[in-house]
Amino acid sequence: MNVVVTGSNRGLGYGFVKRLLELGHTVLAGVRDSRNIEVVEELRRHGNGELFVHQLDITDDDSVNAFVRWLPVEAVDMLINNAAIIDRSSHRYPNIDIETVKKVVEVNAYGQLRMTLALVRALSKGYSPKVVNISSILGSLSLVNSLGTSWFGYRVGKAALNMIMRLLAQDLKPQGIAVYIVHPGVMRTRMTDFSGFLEPYDSARMILETVAQKTIHETGTFFDYQGNPIPW
Ligand SMILES: NC(=O)c1ccc[n+]([C@@H]2O[C@H](COP(=O)([O-])OP(=O)(O)OC[C@H]3O[C@@H](n4cnc5c(N)ncnc54)[C@H](OP(=O)(O)O)[C@@H]3O)[C@@H](O)[C@H]2O)c1
Repeated sequence: MNVVVTGSNRGLGYGFVKRLLELGHTVLAGVRDSRNIEVVEELRRHGNGELFVHQLDITDDDSVNAFVRWLPVEAVDMLINNAAIIDRSSHRYPNIDIETVKKVVEVNAYGQLRMTLALVRALSKGYSPKVVNISSILGSLSLVNSLGTSWFGYRVGKAALNMIMRLLAQDLKPQGIAVYIVHPGVMRTRMTDFSGFLEPYDSARMILETVAQKTIHETGTFFDYQGNPIPW
């Protein structure tokens, strides 16, 4: 498979690159800060797959367009929309900073939308193409009462991402492109100050196994890394 991964220099994105190379796939890895490209390049001899790395800021049209033009393949079989940020301060009522909320939504929702739209043409040439969106259980509306009210911008962004991808799931189905929305579990990454219970590599491995079993008939569904459904 030819697989595009966003935010691949650390955390879950790095786990995806590692696992995909072990499985022998061709990985097209995006890295926001080009100074971190070499961090990913170090995986070049990992596994049997092929690795290509390029700068990619999903909030920047020019960067996304340059990434798409650079792609060394014509067809993309899977896009993993992984990159995201979290609001570390002013993330709970009454200290809600609207500029921070906008900044987070710009990455976590519009960034994923921008990437997906830019890759539709390449995906439509792929084999059983899939868009795998890394969302979060924190984007669930029906679970709000049991999960508290912190991380305001992050949760607004993930809820928006979920709607964006439910809509695109319908729009892209006629082209055979499946769209999934995935909660990766609580992982030991910088986002959680390394306090989660899952290693990002293990989450990446399980997400790839779960998604491999999904078909276009399940497009637009929301599930966790093991395939358990998450309520909207
Ligand atoms: N960690 C968890 O427990 C958890 C739980 C539920 C969902 N998730 C989701 O899982 C995904 C991965 O999270 P993680 O824990 O691995 O986070 P992380 O360690 O903070 O890594 C985030 C990645 O996204 C990249 N990124 C941020 N802004 C970007 C932009 N504008 N353009 C391109 N790349 C950008 C970062 O690049 P830089 O290094 O250059 O900043 C980094 O590579 C996210 O979608 C997150 O919301 C995580």
